[in-house]
Amino acid sequence: MKVLMVCLGNICRSPIAEELFRDACQKIGLQVQVDSAGTASYHIGKAPDSRMIRTASNFGHDISTLRARQFKPSDFELFDVIFAMDDENFSDLRKLANKEEYASKIYRFQDYAEVLVPDFVPDPYYGTQKDFEHTFDIVRTSAIKIAEKIKNKQS
Ligand code: 4NP
Repeated sequence: MKVLMVCLGNICRSPIAEELFRDACQKIGLQVQVDSAGTASYHIGKAPDSRMIRTASNFGHDISTLRARQFKPSDFELFDVIFAMDDENFSDLRKLANKEEYASKIYRFQDYAEVLVPDFVPDPYYGTQKDFEHTFDIVRTSAIKIAEKIKNKQS
């Protein structure tokens, strides 16, 4: 199964979602390939935001080697499931999905995890270190729930 995490810049939320979902799947023996991308082109080729690298590192995760890339329409063919971090990412992806088959692959991350509070992954980019830690916690909880949900569906 191939899963793509998508946010705006691919430097804060989706890289940590990629890492934590990969980790959650590995821990329960779920075979997946995980990647991440941004809807915007601002940060192509850049490493994740240093504040998210630090937050991840504090919890034993290394995301420093990831590099930002922009979502491309061919990703609709390559991936089975595409997770949008917030409503803007979701609607941007839906606009790019020119086939019903593609649109049906897009889910809101928090919806799929069945987490209502908060019901989107907050963008910490204009925030403080605390906001990065808050986003990390939200993503970790949901990544574990999503991995378990997919595993249960398969068995
Ligand atoms: P991300 O955060 O979408 O979680 O990677 C952002 C990164 C950069 C910008 C906005 C959000 N920006 O405006 O440059």
